[in-house]
Order: sequence, then structure tokens, then C-alpha cells
Amino acid sequence: MKPIEIAKDIYWVGAIDWNSRDFHGYSIYQGTTYNAFLVMDEKIVLIDTVKKEFADELITNVSQIVDPRKIDYVISNHTEMDHSGGLARVMHRIGEDKPLYCSKMGYKNLRRHFPQKWNYQAVEDGGELSLGKRTLSFMETRMLHWPDSMFTYVQEDKILFSSDAFGQHYAGLERFDDQMGDAIMPHAKKYFANILLLYAPLILKLVHKVQEMGLALDMICPDHGIIWRQDPSKIINAYVEWSTQTPKRKAVVVYDTMWHSTQTMAEAIVDALGQEGVDARPMHLRSCHRSDIMTEVLDAGAVIVGSPTLNNGLFPTVSDFLTYMKGLKPKNKIGAAFGSYGWSGEAVKLINKELEAMNLEMIDPGVKIKYVPDEQGIEACHTLGKKIAQALPQA
Ligand code: FEO
Repeated sequence: MKPIEIAKDIYWVGAIDWNSRDFHGYSIYQGTTYNAFLVMDEKIVLIDTVKKEFADELITNVSQIVDPRKIDYVISNHTEMDHSGGLARVMHRIGEDKPLYCSKMGYKNLRRHFPQKWNYQAVEDGGELSLGKRTLSFMETRMLHWPDSMFTYVQEDKILFSSDAFGQHYAGLERFDDQMGDAIMPHAKKYFANILLLYAPLILKLVHKVQEMGLALDMICPDHGIIWRQDPSKIINAYVEWSTQTPKRKAVVVYDTMWHSTQTMAEAIVDALGQEGVDARPMHLRSCHRSDIMTEVLDAGAVIVGSPTLNNGLFPTVSDFLTYMKGLKPKNKIGAAFGSYGWSGEAVKLINKELEAMNLEMIDPGVKIKYVPDEQGIEACHTLGKKIAQALPQA
């Protein structure tokens, strides 16, 4: 895709990745984008690069605006290779001696990826860089998404280059929020739930800090997805809401099944929840991707997990999901377990242990049923569903 002037003398020069479908374990059904930006001032600066395979596309885009060798500075807001993988190719093309600005952690981390003797310039939190008419300022945003992450802000244009924050894994011809309306929000929500949820307390602190600084924001340019120019506050407000993790009257019933018994239990629990006015859905782990389930977990008040007992343990997809969810540290949720078994029946106990370790509020010891749920077993599932409904916030 050709470069686009997003503000006077500021260009999107990134790349669209139409074909990727996985981002380290997160499903990206519509591909993604690697956004990079060129600021043409008395000094010319490239902000971020792209994944290694797209480096030539970035250079081609830059070449349509200016000879890449005329770039004076490069800024790396984040070391992860979807943004820095193209650095080697870019530095080779523009000149290995050009100053490369990054955070102090970025300096350490980039050097682990690139042994070349580049002209690294580690910046302080709050540090500035004059381009002539414009001044850039840098803000450390540790752990959003890596220890090296930082934001770059163009004071005169009130544009924030926010790296991973406020992004979405979405490949499309649209470059701006006003071209997509609310259709972009499910992508932003999924991105938050699967990439940033565990850093929710840091996000709240960061938003508070930005508000205290009185930072004016006419545009937020993340490194993935569309640019927020019509209403940057929309995504900031959504981040505050998602970070707060206020539970809704909503339950996610996550399960796998061998011969449909645990599935029958899941559906009985969902029926009971629905009868009590809870927004509930069963999510079968071999039909729903773990990252789509996490998106639903984000604002749910309850996560109920079911597994048959297989070889004295959990069904493998259930273990996978629990490991994934644990790492993302969801908060303010009720938990419960269920599952069928043939002889030993450890699954419910094992799920309880995992959910307790995640600090979910366990409101019931769980329901385990031998082989196939009979009428009494279905009733036990209904009772569990009703108990969960009672514990959830009222609508
Ligand atoms: Fe888009 Fe943390 O990389």
C-alpha cells in the first residue's frame, strides 16, 4: 500500500500483512498491519519499522517521499520484532551511522537482537529531540508491551505515536477510525484482552499520568491497525473501562468434551444462566480459539470451566486455555468448575486449583458427574448456573 500523508508532512509508510493468521498464539483472522511513520521536517525522522519480511515495502514507501539516505534519525519505540525486525535492512539502506533513538531498556534489548555497532541514542523519560520546526518528546511506557516500550509525541501536531498501545490486529485499506466507525472496536477489544490485559493496572496509571500532564491529543497512531483521529478519546475511554475490569452480568462457560457429557453439562449451566437473565454462552475449546474466548472473558463476571477427566488429568485444550488465561491475569471474576468422568475424576479439582491460583472467587466446589449426566446431574448443573447468576452483579 502506498504511503499516506496523515498530517502535514507526516506520512504512514508501513505495511499491511494480509496473510498472517497467528500472532504468537493469538488468532488474527483479518491479518494485521505494521505501522511506521515518516516525519519530514528540517530533520527527517522514521518512527518505527516493520516486521523483517516487509522491510523492502517500507523502504519503497519512504522512497516515494524522500531518498531513504536523507533520513536523519530513526526512532524505535519498541524492540519486539514486528516493529524492529526491519531495522537491519533499514539501517543498512539509510546509513549505519544514523542516530537510532530508543528508551534505555530499548538500548539494552535492541543490542540483544542486533549486534551491529549502530549509533544508539538512549533517551530519558521526558527527553526531547528537536527536528527544526517540530519537537518530539519521549515517554517511557514500560511493559506496554515490553520493558523497552515508549511513546513518541509530536508537540506541535499533538500526535502520539503509541507503539502497541491502542492498536488492533486488523488488515484493511482503511487507515483511520472515521473510515471504520464502531466496526474497529471488537478488534481493539480483542487486542487489549490478549496482549495488554495483564498490564491493566499500568494502563490506568499511564492514562492518569497523561491526563495530569494535560497532553493534548489530536491523533493517536498505534503501530497496528487504524489511526485514531476523529475521536482519540474513544479508545482511551475504552482502555480505562477494560482496565478497570468491572464485571458484567455475563458468564463464559469454557469447556471441552470427549463423548458430549461435559458438553451437555455446559449447555445445562448456560440454560440456567440464561433463565436468570445472564448473558451466557458455551465456548467449546476446539470450536473457539483461545484468544476469542479471552475477548469474551474480558468483561464477563464469571468464568466457568469444564473438562472431562482424561488419564487422571485435564483435557489438553483445557490445560492450554487455563495456562493462557492465567498469564493474562483477569480480575474481579467468579469461577467454578464442572466435568464428567469415568473412574478417577480429578478434572474438577484440578480446574478449581487453577482458578483459585488466578484469584477467581470460587463460589461452589463444582459439579462432577460419572459418565453421562442423568436428570439429577442436569439439575445439579442448573443449580450451579443459578448460584452463579445470583452471585453476579444485577443488570
Ligand atoms: Fe506489536 Fe509488542 O509488538
